Amino acid sequence: MTATMTDTWWDSAVIYQVYPRSFADGNGDGIGDLTGLMERLPYIASLGVDAIWMTPFQPSPQVDQGYDVSDYCGVDPLFGSMEEFDQLLQSAHLLGLRVLLDVVPNHCSSAHPLFRQALAAGPGSPERDMFHFAPGSHDGLPPNNWQSVFGGGAWSRASPESVDDKDWYLHLFSSAQPDWNWRNPAVGDYFESVLRFWFDKGVDGLRIDVAHALFKAPGLPDAPSVTAVVDGLRSNPLVSDQEDVHEVYRRWRRLAQEYTPHRLLVGEVNLDPARAARYTRADEMHQAFPYAFIGLGWDADAWAGVGSELEDARQTHGAPPTWALENHDLVRSATRYGGGATGSERARAALLTILGLPGAAYIYQGQELGLPEVHVPVAERVDPMWSRGGVCRDGARIPLPWTQESHRSHGFSQGQLPDSPWLPVPEGWGNYAIERQHHDPDSSLQLLRRAVELRRHLTGRGIFGKHDDVSWTVQAGGLLLCQRQENICIAMAMGTGRVRLPAGEVLISARPLQAAGWLEPGNSAWIVQN
Ligand code: BGC
Repeated sequence: MTATMTDTWWDSAVIYQVYPRSFADGNGDGIGDLTGLMERLPYIASLGVDAIWMTPFQPSPQVDQGYDVSDYCGVDPLFGSMEEFDQLLQSAHLLGLRVLLDVVPNHCSSAHPLFRQALAAGPGSPERDMFHFAPGSHDGLPPNNWQSVFGGGAWSRASPESVDDKDWYLHLFSSAQPDWNWRNPAVGDYFESVLRFWFDKGVDGLRIDVAHALFKAPGLPDAPSVTAVVDGLRSNPLVSDQEDVHEVYRRWRRLAQEYTPHRLLVGEVNLDPARAARYTRADEMHQAFPYAFIGLGWDADAWAGVGSELEDARQTHGAPPTWALENHDLVRSATRYGGGATGSERARAALLTILGLPGAAYIYQGQELGLPEVHVPVAERVDPMWSRGGVCRDGARIPLPWTQESHRSHGFSQGQLPDSPWLPVPEGWGNYAIERQHHDPDSSLQLLRRAVELRRHLTGRGIFGKHDDVSWTVQAGGLLLCQRQENICIAMAMGTGRVRLPAGEVLISARPLQAAGWLEPGNSAWIVQN
């Protein structure tokens, strides 16, 4: 460990992502809420994790399931009240769970009072300068050719009915999500007050939505081609990764460090590892999600390649990496890795693998159960990305199955019997139920509990060093090896046949080994080499 490295709770934390709408419904209206989450916190604590990250529950028209915020410092009545949030925070802390919230600084809801004021104030007003308003061309076209990440144009008319108001406003996502103009210092001041509001309450950290896209190229020039923008935020320098954005995180880092204990900043920085790592330099965020890694398929070379890039980035910038395989935007890993029984086994092995790596691990609710992606019937899809562009993320957001029995959507809803949950629960969902897996020692849920406990134990004894070097290789037969220092090896069989394990003692494996010294396809293990 070098002198600049800190030793903080989050370096090796396991953090559980809660998507409140689909976690537990305490009032029986078919939508998960804060009461439901509070009642089920002991379940999360029983996983042995260190913290939860809650996706947005602030007031919102819910066009993008809360990522269109109309009041950054409130609680949407759909989810409960501020008193309930305060209670939730306190209960989580009593259980030893820290709480991270989502902050959405790239855009707000078109129902946000500052956007409404901007619309009313008209072209050229200081109110409009809080957002990106610009007049269209003389022939009625938008100010530039940018496309929205959700599909369709990235501009909408400010007042379609008015002949005098020729302004358009920019929205990288849906038209209900206008982008803030971060070149206006008032926007930075506003967000500082938002951060202080939650930090003062005792919230332990923030996940920063679309963190790399706040600043757009000065003058908002046309992209060389329309498709260059459609490709999204990852590779488009006009709408992402502008140098000015780093000053925002330097300011937020100073703010996070005013508090005791320091608050954690983790960014959704969907860039390649080398660029993303620049957001975790010593005076910026503490962590960024491993976007190049998170959506990979079952491909040993790709894992080793991206793993090595993340390791290089860590060695350059010093911040420990984070590991994640799922979130609410991605196809569930069991489906991505091939689906069916094979996909489930692989997802379980992959989860064990990332828990064996140095750096924080993020688990998305239901991943501990091995939930697959659900095919949601077209008529029941609600994702704005689907309606604008054709990609549907609803299949990873289905309510959690708590009970095997289907009553009240497998125990998701309590209180009154709901008409139906906000997304349909498929046939057979009860096979994944928490209740069922809790009583099965061989279940994915019990494997996760054992792995998290072992990880804690090994970390506590210094066998898992928080800042271990990792080297990634692929051996014959598709055996992925992640070597931690000299004596710990994480192995995963990603080929089609069984492979020989490196010599050593197997501490844990995703499934029992069928023959000593061999790993069957779709299995993984942590090995200590003496
Ligand atoms: C969130 C998405 C959301 C988008 C716009 C993200 O990356 O994770 O769920 O739709 O930002 O806020």
